[in-house]
Amino acid sequence: MIGQQIIQLHEVDSTNNYAARLLSEGKLAHGTVILAEHQTAGRGQRGRNWQSTGAKQFTGTYFLKTDFLSVDHLCYLNMAVALSVREMVQSFTKRQVSIKWPNDIFIDNQKIGGILIETNWKNGKVEGAIVGIGINMSPVHSVVYATSLNEISGKSPEIWTVLDLLSASLNRFYTSLVQTDFDVLKEQYESFLWKKDEEITMEERQNTIPFQGIIRGVDQIGNILVERDGVVAVYHNQELDFAANYSKLKM
Ligand code: BTN
Repeated sequence: MIGQQIIQLHEVDSTNNYAARLLSEGKLAHGTVILAEHQTAGRGQRGRNWQSTGAKQFTGTYFLKTDFLSVDHLCYLNMAVALSVREMVQSFTKRQVSIKWPNDIFIDNQKIGGILIETNWKNGKVEGAIVGIGINMSPVHSVVYATSLNEISGKSPEIWTVLDLLSASLNRFYTSLVQTDFDVLKEQYESFLWKKDEEITMEERQNTIPFQGIIRGVDQIGNILVERDGVVAVYHNQELDFAANYSKLKM
C-alpha cells in the first residue's frame, strides 16, 4: 500500500535526496513516504530551487516501484502522479483544479503545487521512481502567482488530511498504471489539462517571441500538442513557456 509506511523528519536538505540516499542503501520499500517539516535545499523542476517560503507547505516524497513500466511509457507515471495530486487538491474546492503540462497543479492562473519525479532505469524498464510533491498549505506572499489550500478552501487543512487523500489517490492511479490502462490515464490527464482548447500566449524557450497557440492534448509519449496558425506542432518537455498567463496580481 502506498503511504502506509511514513518517515517523518523535522529538517532535511530535500526529501527527494533523502529518498535517494535510502534507496542507494537498499532501505526504501515501495510506497514509503518521507515527510519533512522543513527542507533546506528543496529542489524544483529544471534545476530550480523549491524554496521554503515561510508559508506552511506539504513537502513529501513517495517511493514507487515501477519495474513493470517500460521507459517508453514513462509519461504515464507522470500522468498518474499529476492526476493524484490534482484529485487531492480538488477535494478542497469546487473551483476547477488543472494540470499545467507537464505536472504543475494550477487553479485558474495560480500554481498551488509542483511535482519532481526522478527515476532510475534498467534494461529498458523504469526500476523505481522518487516522487517529490510540494503543495502550498498557507499563502505564499513572495510569489504573486501562487495560491494555497488555505486560500482555495477557506480552511487550514492538516498535513495528515492531505497525506491520506494523496495516498488514496496515488493507490488508485498507480493501479491504473500497473494495469497498463494508458489510454484511460491519457484521457483523464487531457481532460484536466490547463487552458486546453483556449487560445493563449506562449513562447518557445529557444526563441522568446510570444505567439498565440491552442493546447490540444498530448501525444503517446507525453509531448504537448499545440495548434498554431491552424497547424498542430509537437513540443517536448521544457520547450514552451506559458508564464505570460500567470496571475500578475493576487486574487
Ligand atoms: C516544481 O514545481 O518545480 C516541483 C517542485 C517539487 C517540490 C517537492 S517538495 C518535496 C520534494 N523534495 C524536493 O526537494 N522537491 C520535491
